[in-house]
Amino acid sequence: MRTSRFSSLLETLAADIRNGQIAPGTLMPTHRQLAATHHVALATASRAYAELKEMGLIIGEVGRGTFVRERRVQSEPDAGDEARLSRHAADLSFNHPVDDGQAELLRTTLRALASSGDLAALMHQQPPGGRLHERDIVCRFLAGRGINASGNRVFIVNGAQQGLDIAVRASLNPHDRVAVDALTYPGFKMVAEAHRITLEPVGCDSRGPDFDALEHVCSARKVRAIYVMPTMHNPLGWVLSARQRSRLVKIARRHDCLLIEDAAYAFLASEAPPPLVALAPERALYVSSLSKSVATGLRFGFMVVPEMCAARVKAQIRASVWSQPSLATALATRWIEDGTVDRLEQERRQDARDRQALAQDVLRGMELTANPESLFVWLKLPPELRMDRIYADLARRNVAVSQASAYATTRHVPHALRLGLSSLSISDLKTALREVRDVIETFPI
Ligand SMILES: Cc1ncc(COP(=O)(O)O)c(C=O)c1O
Repeated sequence: MRTSRFSSLLETLAADIRNGQIAPGTLMPTHRQLAATHHVALATASRAYAELKEMGLIIGEVGRGTFVRERRVQSEPDAGDEARLSRHAADLSFNHPVDDGQAELLRTTLRALASSGDLAALMHQQPPGGRLHERDIVCRFLAGRGINASGNRVFIVNGAQQGLDIAVRASLNPHDRVAVDALTYPGFKMVAEAHRITLEPVGCDSRGPDFDALEHVCSARKVRAIYVMPTMHNPLGWVLSARQRSRLVKIARRHDCLLIEDAAYAFLASEAPPPLVALAPERALYVSSLSKSVATGLRFGFMVVPEMCAARVKAQIRASVWSQPSLATALATRWIEDGTVDRLEQERRQDARDRQALAQDVLRGMELTANPESLFVWLKLPPELRMDRIYADLARRNVAVSQASAYATTRHVPHALRLGLSSLSISDLKTALREVRDVIETFPI
């Protein structure tokens, strides 16, 4: 009897949360109130809450109560993703920084902001690309990454994704050609498609692009830009050596190509040669953000662009979003200045190493490409297994992964999956990776 009361209470609450009847952010009744409302024992109410927490549907905050969790949203939601999300999928398809301490950090900083003198300014729109003193804060931050740029070349944008879009809008025309790695970040493929840019794929392996092939592509036809992730390539995790960077810059100069440098994950590399924008400031448009170090929802990104592009970049920001939301900028610049971003970056680096070591351990013996400091694994599947069926089988077990097709820029799609490692707690990650291993090993051929 007790078990069935517990089950029906749990099912009712879980269903109400999942279908939105109890909205995200709602303060749930106390254990005692819940017990009284549903005519169950206090221990039954507490057990239901414990289970809902375990399912990731609610969250307890010390001294404040129990709240319905915000639903995770994915980068590329489609009907399939929504279906998986509603069943609370273990998400290996997208990298959010783990939430430890995020709510408390936000609460503390919002309190500090609320009593600061500059509050009314946050209700005004900012100049496109940000206010000068905030751009200067970003300049100082970038100086720590080996980039010396003055404020007039630095722009605050709405995440690295918008930075990529603005870079393309400001420097390319429809049908221009852009050289890309044969496996590249899907968000750049989307930008290119939206602006009718022609992608010229260049072969690559775990060490980086094939520069002879790049040279060949640039010699054969006019290539206007090269899109690259020199430090912590997504999905293969490479960090190009100083020699490789120098070769890349030489090719770009010889063929007069722009370099679109995506450094979204670069902070994860404990050691890396200088970024391309430091080597070729006259032609590199550098794009990065705080999404992977602080929070994906902060939407705080930045660009460093050649002087000749600055006016067009500013105009494109003005035309598309006018400016970055003032509140997000105020939060992010505070966190840069008070050392929070440096601290979080350091913590994420350690966390990435731990997660990567776990993945290597659970998936031992399988064909993996990964950097020991990166937050993703490229998992080659045995040729006899159908990728789409493995993907569907994992979805049925509530594990969301990415298929190689999202990353491929050639007709030849590798037989592989990309696993993102940072959206789950370490113990859930271990369980999800074991599911992946199990699905592959037990798949009927
Ligand atoms: C390589 C790469 N570039 C850019 C982005 C976009 O990042 P943001 O959240 O800052 O827009 C991502 C997001 O996953 C990424 O992986």
